[in-house]
Amino acid sequence: MSYSSTHAPTLRVGIVGLGRLGRRHAENLMTRVAGATLVAACSPLPAELEWARDTLQVPHLYADYEALLAHDGLDAVFLVTPTSLHPQQIIQALQAGKHVFCEKPLSLDLEDCRRVSAEAARHPQLKVMIGFVRRFDASYRDAYNKIQQGAIGSPFMVYSQTCDQYDPDGFFVKFAATSGGIFLDCSVHDIDLARWLLGNPQAVRVYASGTTAIHQDLQQFRDVDNGVAICEFDNGRIATFYASRTMPHGHDTMTEITGTAGRLTVGSNPRRNRVEIADAHGVRNECLPSFFERFEDAFLTEVSVFVDAIRREQKLELTLDDATEATRIGIALRESLLSKQPVLL
Ligand code: NAI
Repeated sequence: MSYSSTHAPTLRVGIVGLGRLGRRHAENLMTRVAGATLVAACSPLPAELEWARDTLQVPHLYADYEALLAHDGLDAVFLVTPTSLHPQQIIQALQAGKHVFCEKPLSLDLEDCRRVSAEAARHPQLKVMIGFVRRFDASYRDAYNKIQQGAIGSPFMVYSQTCDQYDPDGFFVKFAATSGGIFLDCSVHDIDLARWLLGNPQAVRVYASGTTAIHQDLQQFRDVDNGVAICEFDNGRIATFYASRTMPHGHDTMTEITGTAGRLTVGSNPRRNRVEIADAHGVRNECLPSFFERFEDAFLTEVSVFVDAIRREQKLELTLDDATEATRIGIALRESLLSKQPVLL
């Protein structure tokens, strides 16, 4: 991927949602992404708009999404809003003639995914990308390239985990009401990775299970804090997923791809940096606290790729079909968790 300069005009972007992740995207868009500038921000919360004005000097602030879409000269929107809002907000943006970057997952509902795809097909000149950030991480990209070059022969199995550090505040317990559950919220990243690394297959059968090891409150949302799953694909390849909210040591995302001639592992030690501590307890390293530190560079790269694709009129590798398939599999995992039965797709 290269982001060399182009004579295309700077992309004028409006961001929608300035919460946990929206602020990070806003900072990147305002200060670190070549070829884009943040001209407007939207949030229903006055304090978030004040933050955008005071911290980033975003010139135009809107409490209402439709007002942002009507902003004169806006080229693209970044949707970093609750997942339940994604489908309708994407459709509105396309109808207003804007390119769209939207955070994952595309939706928790398959019919909504299809409505988005149908609308996008009516606007082929507009780009839509869902933020499956891991594809833009340098280590995952290197593993992908190695697989393409045949380094592990034919890849047939992926193990991938997304394990968050234990948070005594239980933020995600409240979040569970709208997140779609642990598989659609966390494993959706691993699902997308597995398909990408195994040649974009479709799932044919899944089985999921889980437990509430610490956060018993999750049971009211029929969710778990540790979930495991098996996914069989139509090309005969298989994947296993593990998602957790209870890691004591830090954010622990890792993936292993096994092929006929070898194995690649990404992130087996979620180390904070290259410092090792040797003392009376042994030899160890500190770990990264959250997904953001782990994927900080990838969050920047994914936005640069999106901006570059618009300015250079290039095709995006990551498609709405990929995002729809990730949701389809995520929904099936949740169904399997609740029914305790395998689900055929
Ligand atoms: P958050 O709750 O911290 O932020 C949501 C934001 O949306 C808030 O600023 C809120 O004011 C705003 N909002 C709510 N209703 C709105 C409306 N009608 N119009 C405009 N803005 C509205 O949530 P968080 O954690 O930032 O997540 C946002 C999205 O990002 C979710 O879809 C989540 O799945 C995704 N996400 C992706 C991650 C990744 O690894 N790629 C990591 C964390 C979140």
